[in-house]
Amino acid sequence: MSVLIGETMTGGYGGADILHGCTIAVEAGEIAVIVGPNGAGKSTAMKALFGMLPLRQGQVRLRGRDITALSPQDRVKAGMGFVPQVRNVFASMTVEENLEMGAFLREDDFRETMEMVYGLFPILREKRRQPAGQLSGGQRQQVAVGRALMTRPEVLMLDEPTAGVSPIVMDELFDKIIEIAAAGIAILMVEQNARQALNIADRGYVLAQGRNHFTDTGEALMANPEVRRSFLGG
Ligand SMILES: Nc1ncnc2c1ncn2[C@@H]1O[C@H](COP(=O)(O)OP(=O)(O)OP(=O)(O)O)[C@@H](O)[C@H]1O
Ligand SMILES: [Mg+2]
Repeated sequence: MSVLIGETMTGGYGGADILHGCTIAVEAGEIAVIVGPNGAGKSTAMKALFGMLPLRQGQVRLRGRDITALSPQDRVKAGMGFVPQVRNVFASMTVEENLEMGAFLREDDFRETMEMVYGLFPILREKRRQPAGQLSGGQRQQVAVGRALMTRPEVLMLDEPTAGVSPIVMDELFDKIIEIAAAGIAILMVEQNARQALNIADRGYVLAQGRNHFTDTGEALMANPEVRRSFLGG
């Protein structure tokens, strides 16, 4: 059973449908990656999974439970974490305040989780008193991922976590994402760096125009001539 599945999702922002029967799933401990051209509906699919977009058809299930009607906040309580593509940190708040904000739904002691986040991203401990807006792009993405980890999600959704960072920083971030998955958290991420992302993906989805075009292991997608030609630049 998938940790998270959005099955045959159809819907949009009120006008014409953006998603047309799109299916995305991720298994425990797995890294699933969504790739596809600009405007393909990748972020829209993530928002639909997280409950930010009403579906006209289809269903979202978390560990088999139908959560299609749940609010994003209730999905966080149910075990989902989401790092959106834009505006994913509070720039004027310090790093530590951002992490605390991530834990706002928790009533128990979250210091241990914060220690785990600082263990994963040591630079954030050093910069914990600095406003997040003063950090580099890669460090801000670490804050955003750390913030989402503060609720100890079962599944972590990341929309373009490596946008705008250098190849070295991208590799470092991917290593951390592998580490998070190895700890048992299912990862679903959208990536513009398609080749590099498929390289670390257990499963990949190629979306175009709101539809699944290819679904396979990352390795098989990389080897597929049609995927290479149409979506990976040859
Ligand atoms: N808030 C919105 N209201 C109306 N239409 C939107 C909204 N956000 C996105 N769209 C439209 O939905 C379609 C899919 O956009 P989406 O952002 O999901 O694509 P994407 O695959 O994430 O692209 P990118 O690679 O540029 O991030 C586009 O046609 C876009 O114009
Ligand atoms: Mg997007």
